[in-house]
Amino acid sequence: MSKYEAEIKRRRTFAIISHPDAGKTTLTEKFLLYGGAIAQAGQVKGKKNTRAATSDWMEIEKQRGISVTSSVMQFQYEGFCINILDTPGHQDFSEDTYRTLMAADSAVMVIDGAKGVEAQTRKLFKVCAMRDIPIFTFINKMDREARDPFELCEELEHELGIDTYAMNWPIGCGREFMGVYDRQNRKVIHFTSNTNARAATATQIEPDDPALADLIGAGKRDQLVDEIELLDGASCDFDLDRVRHGKLSPVFFGSALTNFGVEPFLEEFLRMTTAPLARRAGDEVVDAFDDDFSAFVFKIQANMNKAHRDRIAFMRVVSGKFEADKEVYHVQEGKKIRLSRPQQLMAAEREIIEEAYAGDIIGVFDPGIFSIGDTLCAPGKKFAFDPIPTFAPEHFERIRSVDTMKRKQFLKGVEQIAQEGAIQIFKTPYSGMEEVIVGVVGTLQFDVLEYRLRSEYNVELYKEGLPFEYLRWIVREDEEAPPLKEEDLLLPGDAKLVEDYKGNQLLLFASQWSIQWVTERNKGLKLAEFGGAKF
Ligand code: G4P
Repeated sequence: MSKYEAEIKRRRTFAIISHPDAGKTTLTEKFLLYGGAIAQAGQVKGKKNTRAATSDWMEIEKQRGISVTSSVMQFQYEGFCINILDTPGHQDFSEDTYRTLMAADSAVMVIDGAKGVEAQTRKLFKVCAMRDIPIFTFINKMDREARDPFELCEELEHELGIDTYAMNWPIGCGREFMGVYDRQNRKVIHFTSNTNARAATATQIEPDDPALADLIGAGKRDQLVDEIELLDGASCDFDLDRVRHGKLSPVFFGSALTNFGVEPFLEEFLRMTTAPLARRAGDEVVDAFDDDFSAFVFKIQANMNKAHRDRIAFMRVVSGKFEADKEVYHVQEGKKIRLSRPQQLMAAEREIIEEAYAGDIIGVFDPGIFSIGDTLCAPGKKFAFDPIPTFAPEHFERIRSVDTMKRKQFLKGVEQIAQEGAIQIFKTPYSGMEEVIVGVVGTLQFDVLEYRLRSEYNVELYKEGLPFEYLRWIVREDEEAPPLKEEDLLLPGDAKLVEDYKGNQLLLFASQWSIQWVTERNKGLKLAEFGGAKF
């Protein structure tokens, strides 16, 4: 195997998803700790301080802080080169999360053992499931009172629609959490608490060893033997192929805070998950091991450093090797470019890099040329990766600049922020540019927009809430057909025809009922829930 192949093969790029507070940060920190990327827990985010943030204002700063400093972290562990993609937990930032997930090859889903599947888990899971990427479940906080493990597995299957396979089985919970039974090796791993050390101290013992009763008590031993029997009889077979296609989720029980089962989880996960996956570009499939470099942009973050007005485009390397001094072809602009100041994030630090391989995430300085979903490839190649889907916003406002003299800054700011993908902007057909309709997935994005327009573009906003809650893209089957006008459609009073800035036409609705009304009365009108593309 060449060095080039070996480098790609050892890469693992995954996202950690969870409902807020399930323990994503704690687990991430433990991973980084094992990899030697940080020296002590608590370095990923200044959690104590940010926790004190109560106002929306601080919340915005916090969220931006989080997505900037820890959007992706690379570290080494036992020969693997690991890229962890962080996904902001706050539900108003789910759009950002969705895009980040597009750059991942697998996901680790952290579940709170006392709470089970929560709202945000469901949403994020859905996105991972659409791409059929492997999903590994870590049921956390077993050192606290937790729900029955059978019930938790059943809930995962029932609520998320994925089969599960318990890789290990907890022995007790809360203060009585004594360890786990490793099903593959048929061994009990008995833990002794060790909060600060690299790993919990574990003793391995066979389940039929008489000494087990001394270790965990006869009652717990009997219960374990019964549960294993039940588990072996009831659960489906372990099938790595189904895991790799996102059909079967391996489940691990543990406790991130006290290190119970974290390292075995990381090791098993790295062994089972895939090396960088191929990506679709129309009819082509671009394999990670292809000789030529290719990448796609999945995140743009402007003004990370306000003093420099910089804008960073984050891209996932899909194939080949990136070399800092080589020209690449930017497909959407039709131009050859050199990517300037390529960098990677290591825990909280940024580092300029000379090379990167398929699976890696790099950030490059963006002079305003990139959009989310753009493709970069070797000069001479001309494919474009399937676009990243846009999710339908659920909240809408009409906005304009209070000061009409600032129209230009207003538009520039709104357009730039829209290019980052945090908001979507629309206009009514044939209207001027004084006012813009803004759609967001979470209302906090309105505050972010207002705050950023004021602080970065010096524009005060006039805002007016709109009653719409649903948006549908009008599917145009005939590309040549002229755009629709309102009078071409039968619309109720609470629906509105708008256009985005790429010329797509859309309808805004105040209710589900109204969508149904329009679909029934406008024969031939096709509406789509996601803009952009297939997954
Ligand atoms: P998140 O990123 O998913 O939002 O969760 P985070 O890791 O920040 O964890 C949320 C809270 O749960 C934290 O407590 C954290 O210490 C705690 N926690 C995480 N894993 C475990 C675990 O395995 N067992 C127990 N008992 N607690 C766990 P906090 O008090 O809110 O924050 P902090 O003051 O400890 O930072």
